Amino acid sequence: MHDSKPLLHTCASPALLHLYDVAQATVVIIDVLRATSTIATALFNGARYIIPVDSVAKCIELGRQISCVTAGERDGKIAEGLLHGNSPFEYARPFIENKILVLTTTNGTRLLHMGLEKGAREIITGSFSNLSAVSNYLINQKNDIILACAAWKDRVNIEDLLFAGALIERVKDHFSIPCDSSHIAETLYKKASHDLFGFMKSNHASHYDRLMDYGLEKDIRYCMEQDLANVLPIYENGKLRVY
Ligand code: MLT
Repeated sequence: MHDSKPLLHTCASPALLHLYDVAQATVVIIDVLRATSTIATALFNGARYIIPVDSVAKCIELGRQISCVTAGERDGKIAEGLLHGNSPFEYARPFIENKILVLTTTNGTRLLHMGLEKGAREIITGSFSNLSAVSNYLINQKNDIILACAAWKDRVNIEDLLFAGALIERVKDHFSIPCDSSHIAETLYKKASHDLFGFMKSNHASHYDRLMDYGLEKDIRYCMEQDLANVLPIYENGKLRVY
């Protein structure tokens, strides 16, 4: 029998995005470590809006044209020419409130631009920091969904799949899920949910190791916590704003 619920798919890597019909879907960009956690945090703390850009050059150029905070990373470190990085702790309210943030990151903002180029019907961003806001929105909208994991340079990563799994656990009764990557994500999340940080550690998650090497354990712990910045960032006319 035909199931009339909207569809939910999980795209585990940007390299697989061409397989999915983004034009019909709400695309949730997921980059738990750390782009989409930082986006939620900056907006939660009062940033006016965020302009996600796909290159450091564009970020610097915009910084010359408008009054804004230019920020971003390459390989997890502040990119050359930018004053701020991609740590959620850089965007506390006293610093970011009422400011415009222009952000470029290795994987997260790149995937957002891929979604735009492919004509995504709607783009929002998700992370554990705003898990409830994202799941409530998806349940209410009743659109087809693609959970798009930013991964690491096209290689599948653990943390983005964990978040996809957490989201699926919350919304699955409202969707039809004919998708093995979604089932894998949910299975992984069930296995890890009692201690996400410990799971990343014991399974040598690659970006966990990279950020630990940079002394950023605090960032990882923050990014694995639920609902610390529970707003819904939605992309419209070049900007991510609170819905
Ligand atoms: C990314 O977009 O690849 C990340 O957010 C990297 C990071 O800053 O940890």
